[in-house]
Amino acid sequence: MRNGNADVAVLIEPGRVHRDVYTDPEIFELEMERIFGRAWLYVGHASQVREPGDYITTELGRQPVIMVRHRDGAIHVLLNRCTHRGAKVVNERKGNASRLICCYHGWSFDTDGRLAAVPVPEGCAAAFDQSAFGLARAPRVGEYRGFVFASLAENPMSFEDHIGPMKRNIDDLVDRAPAGELALDAGMHRYVYAGNWKLQVENVLDSYHVPFGHASTVNKQGAQFARREGDRKGATVVETEKKQTAASWKERKSYIAGNGHGWTSNTALDEGKRSSAAFDEYRRVLADKVGAERAQQILTPRLHNSLIYPNMSIMGLNIHVRVIKPVAVDRTEVTIYPVRLLGAPAAMNSGNIRLLNVTHSAASFVQTDDLESSVRAQKGLRSRRTQWVDIGDEEPDRELNATRALATHEMVVRAQYKAWLGYMRQA
Ligand code: FES
Ligand SMILES: [Fe+2]
Repeated sequence: MRNGNADVAVLIEPGRVHRDVYTDPEIFELEMERIFGRAWLYVGHASQVREPGDYITTELGRQPVIMVRHRDGAIHVLLNRCTHRGAKVVNERKGNASRLICCYHGWSFDTDGRLAAVPVPEGCAAAFDQSAFGLARAPRVGEYRGFVFASLAENPMSFEDHIGPMKRNIDDLVDRAPAGELALDAGMHRYVYAGNWKLQVENVLDSYHVPFGHASTVNKQGAQFARREGDRKGATVVETEKKQTAASWKERKSYIAGNGHGWTSNTALDEGKRSSAAFDEYRRVLADKVGAERAQQILTPRLHNSLIYPNMSIMGLNIHVRVIKPVAVDRTEVTIYPVRLLGAPAAMNSGNIRLLNVTHSAASFVQTDDLESSVRAQKGLRSRRTQWVDIGDEEPDRELNATRALATHEMVVRAQYKAWLGYMRQA
């Protein structure tokens, strides 16, 4: 069993990562313990549990949890594991309940986790101290503008230190809502792919792949020509388009912020392309609320994709929140939540949701490309002839500062592995 710090450290070298990081089940077990067992993880959004008794269930790593709002308005993150004989208490993905009742022997828990009642206590619980049998809770929970995070261990890093560098990225999204609040209540897209979880984490900040992995979407004209098989002129157009698109993506920048977090610039809501009655109305409502100058700032290009390491991202273009859940070393579940900007015209929110269906559902034009790439990466990595995966070794552009590089560079991935190693080395 691999558990020594030295064992793990040899897997990460400057500019390269060993294939075991993606393929070794023992490494995966260590990740569940050392990263998902104690890092700050995104759990859910307050809007998913708006009313007292509202809950969602999810997993942090592989540990089942319930995020639930109590009568007093507080949100609790409880381990979804009965204190009697261990059954998962809540099986539904979401719902509302005044008590959480275990299906096995009927123990019931209040929405703050307290054990409320034990039916027929004789023989099992007649004389025990009920207060000691509440649902276990995540030792640390933090919330920033509705985004709820938890740590399953006494994480030495404060929530503030963890999330601090990324507050601006959350603000960037939340400030777009004229009411200053988001709702993640418009359903979800969920799928599982046959690849390691880090492939998706890497992908969200990978601008390098866009003109190639998504050629059929971003090179529209090229794709049109490409459909005419054997058309030599078409092939030239495809090449030119690819070069142009790659060039425009090279304009983008990526950033790192410590703790494995990072983001890429820079997609504006207001690129001049979006002119519709709904968008114009949105712009007006936002300006009424925050003033024309601030509204313009909010709609000005800044952030595109943000990664809050290790398990969530915010995408600014087809706005959504993405949650990445490792299932096994070669199996990952991804959930994409459309975001409604409260206070924005309904037509604009529904337009965003429709766009997301086209780009990021399980049968969409964009996300399927990424899944295919991840699945192929996992397959390719079965090959043992080459042991290392290249993640680049270039320093960020000297004209830029040390935490900013062209978005096609792999600085963000190197930063993720720095954080990964930091967690994995702490026995
Ligand atoms: S296992 Fe839950 S009540 Fe027995
Ligand atoms: Fe992609």
